[in-house]
Amino acid sequence: MSYQDRYTTAAQFAAAAHAGQTVTGTTLPYLLHVTLVAMEVSAALRAEPGHDEGFAIQCALLHDTVEDTSVSYAQLVATFGQPVADGVLALSKDPTLPKGEQMRDSLRRIQAQPHAVWLVKLADRIVNLQPPPQHWTTEKIAAYKEEARVILATLGAASPLLAARLAAKIAAYGVGRV
Ligand code: NI
Repeated sequence: MSYQDRYTTAAQFAAAAHAGQTVTGTTLPYLLHVTLVAMEVSAALRAEPGHDEGFAIQCALLHDTVEDTSVSYAQLVATFGQPVADGVLALSKDPTLPKGEQMRDSLRRIQAQPHAVWLVKLADRIVNLQPPPQHWTTEKIAAYKEEARVILATLGAASPLLAARLAAKIAAYGVGRV
């Protein structure tokens, strides 16, 4: 399947899966988050060749389907094949674990995946480091910033471009509030 067809099928699947969901704190469709993550990944793929581009973009577009929608791992295997399904599963927190362990567990599983999956996690946090909501406490902002540092330290080696972008986002995050 061509890169364009892989992009289109994953984008259509994600749009249907996230239908009705909005970006937290806004009225904007959740698909905006997904497409911004795909944009960050595609910029990295262009600057740093050597990844399976179709695989990377499908993991980016589908990265929140298992965690945030009724889509199952088995459905992803049937529709996109096991490598993509495994990538998305690694990017999904395991809700059966205590909250404090979910991120570290996901990062460990991402580390066992191709570097394209590492790119998606870096891109996801770059996109999520928007100015924190007004109601967030300084503790919550500091914790989110620290979590981003852990992601950068664990996965940054996969992409100098995304690592630099994430480092800049972390430096600017919550300035004036923490
Ligand atoms: Ni996400």
